[in-house]
Amino acid sequence: MRIIGTIDEMRAAVRTARAAGQTVGLVPTMGAFHEGHLSLMRRARAASDLVVVSLFVNPTQFGQNEDLSSYPRDEARDAALAENEGVDILFAPEAAEIYPDGFATSIHVSGITDVLDGASRGAFHFDGVATVVTKLFGIVAPDVAYFGQKDAQQILVVRRVVADLNLEVRIEACPIVREADGLAMSSRNVYLDPAARQQATALNRALDAAAAVRGSGERDGERILDAARRVLADADITPEYLELRDVLTLNTVTRVESDALLAVAARVGAARLIDNHILKGDV
Ligand code: PAF
Repeated sequence: MRIIGTIDEMRAAVRTARAAGQTVGLVPTMGAFHEGHLSLMRRARAASDLVVVSLFVNPTQFGQNEDLSSYPRDEARDAALAENEGVDILFAPEAAEIYPDGFATSIHVSGITDVLDGASRGAFHFDGVATVVTKLFGIVAPDVAYFGQKDAQQILVVRRVVADLNLEVRIEACPIVREADGLAMSSRNVYLDPAARQQATALNRALDAAAAVRGSGERDGERILDAARRVLADADITPEYLELRDVLTLNTVTRVESDALLAVAARVGAARLIDNHILKGDV
């Protein structure tokens, strides 16, 4: 596996692969790899000739009071894990390579970024994501890019950018990978002390409880949400949001008649965690 730090070198590697008729798969990441990341790499490895994983802790998607400086970083460990998955290139640029002096462009997706994490963290967050992902697509020019469904809203934002800017890349959403007790894997789980780690299991249990109510035939949004609210309250968790939204438009759903995104964000101990389930419209 090659580790590449410059855009020029990254572009040259892709040009060589393309000249040989190879397809390119990209897994954009911020490092601190866990099984969720590795599952994306495996999907890419199975489908593409050249597999590129980007490792870049993107400063523009972090707010002033967020965890940019403490975000877990261990490039040597990440490189070993990526190599073990058969990744061909780890693209790990410095911030100045991505945002050189004079950088002045930002991509803003309107509408779907006004809710959930866009409302909770602020508009800057998805502007930062959309801008860096568009740059990565420009640099790596992948045929397919792989994203985890845990960041469901991020996937919708990226799909919107791809459609609106006519980018030639297919976005593949990959299932959430969970710990044995249901906690969604996240690089931020390392912030959890043992008590918070236990408390955090309530997020998925809350979503499961809501899904069970939906599974019994209930369509009323408030009744479905109430089941999740009870589990969170029992675990002493006050969510930043717990909402039912249309899977494509992110409009509020009051009755589940078609597939709906049940999404939660909460501070648990020192971590801000998100999770979601898709509730089917047709049970
Ligand atoms: O999901 C992430 O890790 C980041 O938001 C991404 C897509 C790599 C952009 O920085």
